[in-house]
Amino acid sequence: MRSKLPGAPTSIFAVMSGLAREHNAINLSQGFPDFDLSPELIELMDKNMREGNNQYAPMQGVQPLREEISVKINRDYGRCYNPDTEINITAGATQALFTAFNAFVFAGDEVIVIEPAYDSYIPSIILNGGKPVPIPLTADFRYDWDQIRSAVNPRTRMIVINSPHNPLGTTFHEEDITALTEITRNTDILIISDEVYEHIIFDGKKHLSMAKYPELAERSLVISSFGKTFHATGWKVGYIVGPSKYIAEFRKIHQFTVFAVNTPAQMSYSEFLKNPEHYLHLNEFYQNKRDFLNSFFTDTKLKFTPAEGTYFQIFDYSAYSDEDDFTFAKRLTAEAGTAVIPLSPFYTVDYSGRKIRVCFAKRDKILQEGAERVLEYLST
Ligand SMILES: Cc1ncc(COP(=O)(O)O)c(C=O)c1O
Repeated sequence: MRSKLPGAPTSIFAVMSGLAREHNAINLSQGFPDFDLSPELIELMDKNMREGNNQYAPMQGVQPLREEISVKINRDYGRCYNPDTEINITAGATQALFTAFNAFVFAGDEVIVIEPAYDSYIPSIILNGGKPVPIPLTADFRYDWDQIRSAVNPRTRMIVINSPHNPLGTTFHEEDITALTEITRNTDILIISDEVYEHIIFDGKKHLSMAKYPELAERSLVISSFGKTFHATGWKVGYIVGPSKYIAEFRKIHQFTVFAVNTPAQMSYSEFLKNPEHYLHLNEFYQNKRDFLNSFFTDTKLKFTPAEGTYFQIFDYSAYSDEDDFTFAKRLTAEAGTAVIPLSPFYTVDYSGRKIRVCFAKRDKILQEGAERVLEYLST
């Protein structure tokens, strides 16, 4: 049979979660919380369903939610997006990303993707006729702006960026903003900025949203997801914001793909978002989890630099093994009983690092047991 994605592997998250089930392992692989969302949010969902908010929402998303997102972004990053023309609700960030590629990538257009990259970007670009141009991060996982600059040419349609970064847990710094601004100035390049972990950033750092920088905001589509911020990845509600000329095009495609997003969830978020306290403590919450996980490995040969953001921590296992990362991750899952994620599936360019990703969006007792199993296994 013909395939639009020949050779596309099963997602590494499905593979490792499947292995975790098979070996009854603690699952620190896939990126979702194992604790529940706020009871208040559940009550809001219940209330909204009982009040009859159960039919199609408007294509662009319900008005109260678009208004709250506008207020929120203005409060957090100082830019006012018009709720009617510059904001659209989506079925999670994944749909926002796919629809954005669909709307703006034409056959043969080049899209710069920084690797390692979240696994949906490159297949979504290919499915929409684009040519991904992967640029690896440096060995210490910073942006190689000279290489990015030299990849830009008249066919470059987009640059995809992601901060805080999955899988690395790194974040954009001011010098990255300066370089990105210079590189895109006087071009037609559109920036797709995946900011789903915007509220999970540590050690007093501030999230540098594209929305904060007027010159970048003019050419950016900023994508976020309530799934990460409110521990509700299964609700699949996210949004995209950007200049009205782009959102108008985005809507032309959105209306024929999902058309509208879950109504009671949108209504519930519009009420829940009114209180910023509901997300302002997320940094502290996850920083404690990061530190708790890392405390088990401080004096070991499993090396790490504490994540700057997200709920992922990278560990370097080269002092323990020279195996490739997929083999090592499978061995930890099957023999230590803790499932983790190898980094190589996040690359299409050559990569032979000895690093694994651990998700710390888990209850402390699960983190402890997962860490202790790894420590015990590696010490034998
Ligand atoms: C960087 C990144 N972008 C997008 C998504 C997808 O978000 P959603 O579940 O809202 O589609 C994820 C989920 O893990 C992610 O890590």
